[in-house]
Amino acid sequence: MSQATIESILKEQRTFPPSPEFAAQASISSMDEYRQLYEKAQADPAGFWAELAEQELHWFQKWDQVLDWQPPFAKWFVNGKLNLSYNCLDRHLTTWRKNKAALIWEGEPGDSRTLTYAQLHREVCQMANVYKQLGVKKGDLVGIYMPMIPEAAIAMLACARIGAAHSVIFGGFSAEALKARLLDANAKLVVTADGGFRKDKIVPLKPAVDEALQDDGVPSVDNVLVVRRTEQKIHMEPGRDHWWHDLQAGASKDCPAEPMDSEDLLFILYTSGTTGKPKGVVHTTGGYNLYTHITCKWTFDLKDTDVYWCTADVGWITGHSYIVYGPLSNGATSLMFEGAPRPSNPGCLWDVVEKYGVTIFYTAPTAIRALIKMGEHLPNARDLSSLRILGTVGEPINPEAWMWYHRVIGGGRCPIVDTWWQTETGGFMLTPLPGATATKPGSATFPFPGIIADIVDLEGNPVADNQGGYLVIKHPWPSMMRTVYGDDERFRRTYWEHIAPQDGQSLYFAGDGARRDEDGYFWVMGRVDDVINVSGHRLGTMEVESALVSHPAVAEAAVVGRPDEVKGEDVFAFVTLEGSGDGSEALAEELKAHVVKEIGAIARPSEIRFTDAMPKTRSGKIMRRLLRNLAAGQEVAGDTSTLEDRSVLDKLRGGA
Ligand code: PRX
Repeated sequence: MSQATIESILKEQRTFPPSPEFAAQASISSMDEYRQLYEKAQADPAGFWAELAEQELHWFQKWDQVLDWQPPFAKWFVNGKLNLSYNCLDRHLTTWRKNKAALIWEGEPGDSRTLTYAQLHREVCQMANVYKQLGVKKGDLVGIYMPMIPEAAIAMLACARIGAAHSVIFGGFSAEALKARLLDANAKLVVTADGGFRKDKIVPLKPAVDEALQDDGVPSVDNVLVVRRTEQKIHMEPGRDHWWHDLQAGASKDCPAEPMDSEDLLFILYTSGTTGKPKGVVHTTGGYNLYTHITCKWTFDLKDTDVYWCTADVGWITGHSYIVYGPLSNGATSLMFEGAPRPSNPGCLWDVVEKYGVTIFYTAPTAIRALIKMGEHLPNARDLSSLRILGTVGEPINPEAWMWYHRVIGGGRCPIVDTWWQTETGGFMLTPLPGATATKPGSATFPFPGIIADIVDLEGNPVADNQGGYLVIKHPWPSMMRTVYGDDERFRRTYWEHIAPQDGQSLYFAGDGARRDEDGYFWVMGRVDDVINVSGHRLGTMEVESALVSHPAVAEAAVVGRPDEVKGEDVFAFVTLEGSGDGSEALAEELKAHVVKEIGAIARPSEIRFTDAMPKTRSGKIMRRLLRNLAAGQEVAGDTSTLEDRSVLDKLRGGA
C-alpha cells in the first residue's frame, strides 16, 4: 500500500449505516442481532456450528463429534457423511428451484448460456460418469485448467460428486507453473479447453497442457479432457486426449453422489508464500461446505430473487467459494463472466448488470480503481438500479475507491461488504453483515460470528487500539485449511509458529498486519511478509526471484512490490548479472518474458533495475526495506547502519 493510502485510511472517520429499508428486509437486521450470534458462537462454538450444519446442509450420516482440535490440526464434523455436489444440486431438485437459473454465463464474444439447477445437475452427472470412464476414482485428483466457462464449474462439481479432489490452476499460469502444480498434486486427469477468450484475444490453453505433459513430464496424468470453446486448431494426442462433447454424448445422466467423509479431501489450491515453491492449500468437505454456505448467505443477505455476480476467476479461492460452492449450496443464481473491461468495450460490466438485473455485485479494489479511470459516464449511462449489495475483496480498499463505488455504482443506497479472507481461510473472516453493520470506507469491520480474531504483537499479546499489529485467529473454524498438501511441517511453520504466546496457545497467522480502532473496527493494512498483492493476486517475491535466477544471465535477484495506483502493487525487480554484463533494455525485456514463461503474465515485472550489488546486511541478508523505498522512488527511510557497503545504496539511488 502506498503511504498516501495508509494515511487516508488512518484518517477515515465516516460511517455508513444500512438504510432502515435495507435493514428491515435483511435476514440479520441489526448490530444487536449480530452481537447475539457472535456471543452465542463464542460461548459454545461446537453448539453453534452443529446447529447450523444440521439446519443448512444435507447429511447422509450425522457426525459423532463436531470438532477434534489437535493444534494446529482440526477435524470438523468427525465421521459425518455428505456430498458437496449433492448439497449444491440434488437437494434443490425436489423444490421449485429445480427450474431456477443456477448459473448464468455471459461469455465472449457475445455468447451466453443459462443452466437451471436441473440442467446443471444433468451435466455434472455426465461429466462425473466421463471421469469414471477415464478411470478416475474416489481419492484421485483432477487438474482443471480452464477459461471462465460453465464447464469449469461443472468439472469441479463432477469431482465433488464422485469424491475425486480437484486442483484448479488459473488459466493465466504458464505451462511451467501448470506442470509444477500437476506434479505436486499427482493429478490423474487434466480438464482443459481448446482455448479461452481473454479481452479481445484467444488464450491458447491446450498447448500449455501439451507442453506440461510432454516427454511424460507429469507421469501420473493418463488422460486429458478437452472442452471445445474457441474452435482453435489444436493437437489431440491419440489415446490421451478426448473431446468433452464426444464423451458427453455417450455418458449416462445418472450418477448418484458418493457419500463422502466430512474430512475427505475436497480440493487443493496452490497459493504463493514466502518461499519459492507455491503451497497446496488443502480444504476438506464438510467444514468447507458449511462455512462457504453460511458466509455467502449472511454476508450477501441472499434471497431467492437475487442475481448474484462475483467477477473473480474460478482459478482463485474467490471463484471456488463464491462463484461455485457457496452460492449453489444456497440455491442462488450465480453469474459467471468470461469477459473483462477493455478499451474496445469499457462498459461491459454495467451492460451485464443491466442485462440480467444483477442485485449483488462482488469485485476487487483493483477493478474498481481501473473502472474509476474509465470514467463515470459508463455506469451512469446504464440502469444499475437492480443492485442492492456491493462487495469487495483481495486487498485493502482505499477510501476514495470505496466512496466512488458507493456513490456511482451503488447509487448511495447499497451497503458495501469489504470481505477480508484468504485462500487458507476458505471463506470470509472479517466482513460487514449488510443489514446490521455500519460500514467505514476501508475497514472490513468485524469478525463473522464464530471467528475469534485479534491483533497482537509477536508474543501474542493484544495491542492497544489504533496500534498496528499482527492479525490472528484464535479458534479453529470449519473451513480453515487443514494442511499444506504433503507437508504438515510447512503448515505448522508457516501459519502457527510466527506468533508464539507464552501460554502455548495456538494462533493462526497468515501474514497480514492490521489495527483496530476505538469502535472495535478492524483495518487490514496488508501483508507483512514477502508476499505482494498485484491486482488482488498474491505473488511470493521469492517465487519471482527463483524464476529470474533460473535465467542463465542472472546471478542474483531481489523482488519487491512497488505501490501502483490501479494494481495496488506491481512487481519491481533488482537484478545482478553473471560476469560483467551491464544489462540492456533488450535483456530486461528478455527477463520479463522469462518470468512470464516460468509463472505467467500476472508475475511479469513492470521494471527491472540492473545493479552490480544488492544492499545487504553484514550477515548477507538483502535489505528489502531499502529496495522497497528505492522502487517507490522514496527517500530511504529508517536505520541503514547495518548496511555492509553504503556505496551500493548510492549507486542504486542513481538508477542502473
Ligand atoms: O493480504 C490479504 C489480502 O489478500 C490476502 C489473501 O490472498 P488470497 O489468498 O489470494 O485470497 C484473496 C481472496 C480472498 C490476504 O492475506 N486481502 C484479501 N481480502 C482483503 C485483503 N486485504 C484487505 N482487505 C480485504 N478485504
